[in-house]
Amino acid sequence: MRATLLLLAAIGSEACQRERAFLHHPYRHVKRQSSNATFPPVLDANEQVLMNSFDTVSISEWSYYYNVFLNYPISNSLVLSHPNSSTFTPTLMEDVLEEDETTSYANRIPTFHGYSFTGNASAEYVYVGRGQQVDFERLIALGVELEGKIALAKYGGPFRGLKVKNAQDHGMIGTVIFTDPGDDGNMTEAKGVTAYPHGPARNPSTVQRGSVQFLSTYPGDPTTPGYASKPDSPRADRSNITPNIPSLPISWIEAQPILQALNGFGTNGSAVNRTGWVGAIPGVDYSTGAGSGATLFMSNVMNDTYGTIWDAVGIVNGTNPDEVVIVGNHRDAWIVGGAADPNSGSAVLIELSKAFGALSKTGWKPLRTIVLCSWDAEEYGLVGSTEWVEEYIPWLKNAAVSYLNVDVAVSGPIPDVSASPDLHAISTSLMKKIVYPYRNATELTMYDVWAHESGEIGVLGSGSDYTAFLHRGIASIDMGAGGGPDDPVYHYHSNYDSYHWMATFGDPGFHTHKAIGQYLTLLLYHMVSDAVVPLEPADYVSELNTYLEALQSDISASNFAIDLSNLTAAISTFETSAQEFVDLRTEAVSTNDTALITVQNHKARDFSRGFTSQGGLPTREFYQNTLFAPGRDTGYAPVTFPGITESVTFDKDAELAQEWVKKTSDAILVAASILKN
Ligand SMILES: *[C@@H]1O[C@H](CO)[C@@H](O)[C@H](O)[C@H]1NC(C)=O
Ligand SMILES: *[C@@H]1O[C@H](CO)[C@@H](O)[C@H](O)[C@H]1NC(C)=O
Ligand SMILES: *[C@@H]1O[C@H](CO)[C@@H](O)[C@H](O)[C@H]1NC(C)=O
Ligand SMILES: *[C@@H]1O[C@H](CO)[C@@H](O)[C@H](O)[C@H]1NC(C)=O
Ligand SMILES: *[C@@H]1O[C@H](CO)[C@@H](O)[C@H](O)[C@H]1NC(C)=O
Ligand SMILES: *[C@@H]1O[C@H](CO)[C@@H](O)[C@H](O)[C@H]1NC(C)=O
Ligand SMILES: *[C@@H]1O[C@H](CO)[C@@H](O)[C@H](O)[C@H]1NC(C)=O
Ligand SMILES: *[C@@H]1O[C@H](CO)[C@@H](O)[C@H](O)[C@H]1NC(C)=O
Ligand SMILES: *[C@@H]1O[C@H](CO)[C@@H](O)[C@H](O)[C@H]1NC(C)=O
Ligand SMILES: *[C@@H]1O[C@H](CO)[C@@H](O)[C@H](O)[C@H]1NC(C)=O
Ligand SMILES: *[C@@H]1O[C@H](CO)[C@@H](O)[C@H](O)[C@H]1NC(C)=O
Ligand SMILES: [Zn+2]
Repeated sequence: MRATLLLLAAIGSEACQRERAFLHHPYRHVKRQSSNATFPPVLDANEQVLMNSFDTVSISEWSYYYNVFLNYPISNSLVLSHPNSSTFTPTLMEDVLEEDETTSYANRIPTFHGYSFTGNASAEYVYVGRGQQVDFERLIALGVELEGKIALAKYGGPFRGLKVKNAQDHGMIGTVIFTDPGDDGNMTEAKGVTAYPHGPARNPSTVQRGSVQFLSTYPGDPTTPGYASKPDSPRADRSNITPNIPSLPISWIEAQPILQALNGFGTNGSAVNRTGWVGAIPGVDYSTGAGSGATLFMSNVMNDTYGTIWDAVGIVNGTNPDEVVIVGNHRDAWIVGGAADPNSGSAVLIELSKAFGALSKTGWKPLRTIVLCSWDAEEYGLVGSTEWVEEYIPWLKNAAVSYLNVDVAVSGPIPDVSASPDLHAISTSLMKKIVYPYRNATELTMYDVWAHESGEIGVLGSGSDYTAFLHRGIASIDMGAGGGPDDPVYHYHSNYDSYHWMATFGDPGFHTHKAIGQYLTLLLYHMVSDAVVPLEPADYVSELNTYLEALQSDISASNFAIDLSNLTAAISTFETSAQEFVDLRTEAVSTNDTALITVQNHKARDFSRGFTSQGGLPTREFYQNTLFAPGRDTGYAPVTFPGITESVTFDKDAELAQEWVKKTSDAILVAASILKN
């Protein structure tokens, strides 16, 4: 049960990642969940103005015109040498497609890893699976020598920077990371599906660019950990946050001969017995490759520079200036196109602004201040949002009611929402007001489709711009729609994440864009104009109990005796305070006691600051939230009660775990006391 929850949560939290979700039901039988609900949903006058402002045609135009340029790697190369001295030199380029205009632009961006290390490496290489610590532990158990070798790793699972980190930590001198069609389920050429641009399967030459920062240690500018990056800011050593060995991304078609040279050497992939080890590249055994005698030469030359980035921030003052709701999306892309990542989100954010413009013309004003943010340099490591939060933290700690994030608004048809528990109620109920296009079905709301597909709001890990907000105790939500195993393959961080792909396969007609945009718009509208702040602190209680069960099972699986009684007691105290908070708020509303409503609104805004621990989690000061954090060896996927859990599963240190029971319990008690005051 918990494993399923965690897996769902992992999918829900990979905003900039969107690996394919295999947990879904056949879509033929989608039914309206609330059979006695009217369709279309009932909206009030303001909601109607906002919803009517959404236009699929202008969304599609904004997507098209959002082209963003990034700095270039200077050069890179890779050469495979067989023991008989014959060689293979991959192009490291994606094919130019006649049908897809942006793939041929002269200024198209080469394949490379952001924040990668400049250097050459030449050595034998071994296949390391998805490059998690457990994969390396397995290789060591199989007697594979790692020191001085090059790692050949598969995409999928942990954030790519952690694959490089783990290779480096085992004395390896370079990392090559390939895409594998095994992650595409049945949507593969091997199973008879035509590849892009003529069909929905993966184009064999697609390469996943992306950052190799050690994201779970620190997001943001790696030379200014914990403080804003200004021209005169002191610069810290970044060697614990970015790699010290070179890395390159590569397509499956060009990885194929490199993997085949390992066939029959070392342990056969099917006998390695590790999650995600064996992929689906034809003619490949996924052997470890020890003793193959084949070598790789790799060269990666990057221009390390200090450049200016721009966060575009717009503010609409509310009548209550000490209550602020922030909405953000990033604007930078790895490629000339980026129709899904990030332009689907950027297009939606612009339509949202237009909708609020239309509502303002009716004389409407928000109660709470709206801050609209278009972040820069998200792709290198959430840089624009992290630096901004580090600069404005005193104001945000006092005034932020919530942060609403959209990154990849659409890469497929399935709605996907992750949020802090206090946002579960509002984010679920507003889905019922959104008319949602879903394959060939009609008259469905977003709620119907969401309930049919997962019915779960995920736990936030990392991988998009909500991270800095969540780890300063600000209620956060991340939303979008992605593909399942029967949907066209999304070419993540590739030239084929293009307008042509989106208009032909991803979201023809841009109807899903419209629905996600309307959803974000309604959420923002209620956050800034409901007299009672729509946050539900009491909804933390059931989530905390779920996290507690997961923790108990991790502890039983270890040999440690950890006393959780103070944690259990803290959750119980929180439950009592949350109930008192709800009762008092209900009373304030029923007696129209506006002063008391304001007091309760401020408690709802502030209580989650209590969940943070000033010094941060073990080994990573930046990550302060004691309830959820990206796993140290996953980067994207969340770990709940991270201080305690990872002390058990990762550090294997019972004393540290007990110390974190105390810190976590204390944090929950601080949150409870803020609700009670
Ligand atoms: C149907 O309507 C009744 C009465 O309004 C309500 O109590 C019930 O929750 C509704 N059922 C659903 C599934 O929405
Ligand atoms: C060298 O070995 C590779 C891999 O086994 C093989 O594909 C290639 O044909 C060989 N070349 C020569 C010249 O023998
Ligand atoms: C690294 O490899 C590149 C490409 O072969 C070569 O031009 C460069 O001189 C090498 N650098 C060093 C320091 O060996
Ligand atoms: C692939 O197709 C097979 C046979 O129809 C089915 O059993 C399996 O569940 C499918 N896999 C996925 C990931 O959809
Ligand atoms: C590796 O295992 C697979 C699956 O059991 C088998 O088909 C393949 O022949 C094996 N390769 C070698 C070199 O033994
Ligand atoms: C594979 O590993 C799991 C645990 O990681 C173990 O329970 C299982 O016995 C292993 N299977 C084989 C065939 O070694
Ligand atoms: C590196 O970047 C700087 C700053 O953008 C630029 O002036 C310089 O020409 C670049 N060097 C190379 C070799 O591209
Ligand atoms: C919004 O509020 C800020 C801070 O009080 C003030 O400086 C600014 O002038 C206001 N903007 C408008 C358009 O009223
Ligand atoms: C909807 O699409 C599914 C899958 O393509 C198909 O099986 C089904 O018959 C379609 N339903 C209608 C009503 O067209
Ligand atoms: C539980 O909390 C109490 C009161 O703060 C403290 O005295 C006690 O040592 C804690 N127990 C454990 C096991 O940490
Ligand atoms: C509640 O009180 C406010 C101000 O005190 C007043 O403007 C409003 O009309 C009242 N609402 C109701 C429903 O009584
Ligand atoms: Zn993104």
